[in-house]
Amino acid sequence: MEEKIISSSIIAEEEKELEFSLRPTSFADFIGQKNLKQKLAIYIKAAKERNEPLDHVLLYGPPGLGKTTLAHIVARELGVNIRVTSGPAIERPGDLAAVLTNLSSGEVLFIDEIHRLYKTVEEILYPAMEDLALDIVIGKGPSARTLRLDLKPFTLIGATTRAGLISSPLRDRFGVIDRLDFYQSKELCQIIKRSAGLLKILIDEEGAMEIANASRGTPRIANRLLKRVRDYAQVKGQKKITQKIAREALNLFEVDPLGLDKVDHLLLTTIIDNFSGGPVGIETLAASISEDVGTLEEIYEPYLMQIGFLKRTPRGRVITAKACRHLKKRVDLSDAGLGMPKQQQLWDKG
Ligand SMILES: Nc1ncnc2c1ncn2[C@@H]1O[C@H](COP(=O)(O)OP(=O)(O)OP(=O)(O)O)[C@@H](O)[C@H]1O
Ligand SMILES: [Mg+2]
Repeated sequence: MEEKIISSSIIAEEEKELEFSLRPTSFADFIGQKNLKQKLAIYIKAAKERNEPLDHVLLYGPPGLGKTTLAHIVARELGVNIRVTSGPAIERPGDLAAVLTNLSSGEVLFIDEIHRLYKTVEEILYPAMEDLALDIVIGKGPSARTLRLDLKPFTLIGATTRAGLISSPLRDRFGVIDRLDFYQSKELCQIIKRSAGLLKILIDEEGAMEIANASRGTPRIANRLLKRVRDYAQVKGQKKITQKIAREALNLFEVDPLGLDKVDHLLLTTIIDNFSGGPVGIETLAASISEDVGTLEEIYEPYLMQIGFLKRTPRGRVITAKACRHLKKRVDLSDAGLGMPKQQQLWDKG
């Protein structure tokens, strides 16, 4: 697969190491998500005062916004160990049973991609989360019996990019369910300056802001762009990343000032040129630009919707006037099913 610089998923092995070195380790270092941080800090303090484990926590939101980072911070603030696994990694119920029985009192079990747990594995979790019990079936057929094992108190932290795919019995067993939102440019700018400091990269305020604006609200993309712009600056013999250098580099990478790349542009212009602004079904759209539906839904659409360029309607995807202005394109959106009077749908011709 072609490497996408604006992809919010991890794209290379080396990036994992980079993430590790740049990962904030305390709430104080963790920039943004103020409300969520405050809430978590209160729950943690209360649990510690009562000498109880923290309630189970489910964190959801698009890739690269800091779910894994937060899970580690929570464990650290609780002063306990964290065990890390992921939904697809637990293949059999016995694997999960082994993980659970090995937890020490109060520890955090972090399950990434929890929406991808196998059904049979998920069922082991229900009594474990609720009653700290493990039901094990011994033997087969008529002579089979279940044995109930007690577990030590623990906190499960689940993370997912697809909250909608979590079954309701699982969701209901979390005491805290919270969402991470895309970051503001100002926050991303702070994150970039922090990362630049750690990586010993010289960057000025305007340079950091230029990269922040192109980071699609996502710290992972901000860090990646910072590194690529650094490469550019170095090759051009520049010691410091300024706005000019950042813009030049981003132009070269085909990332526009709002962080949109070739595929975003193709997606938006295809809706305008081939489907008169929409609505168009996601499958049709994906086929016309030769991308797969999953990539569009996970990587491209959330951000385009967040910045108000794309709308999801029951009849399909629809472009907005704002997107047309950004692309300097004109389209009559009166048939686009937005349910607004015709006049408001036409973008101002000024
Ligand atoms: N609030 C933040 N402040 C500073 N850096 C952050 C913040 N949130 C995330 N990062 C940086 O972004 C990187 C990605 O974050 P993280 O791995 O926690 O995302 P995630 O939500 O778990 O993504 P995924 O869904 O792909 O697992 C981290 O390595 C960290 O360097
Ligand atoms: Mg993660």
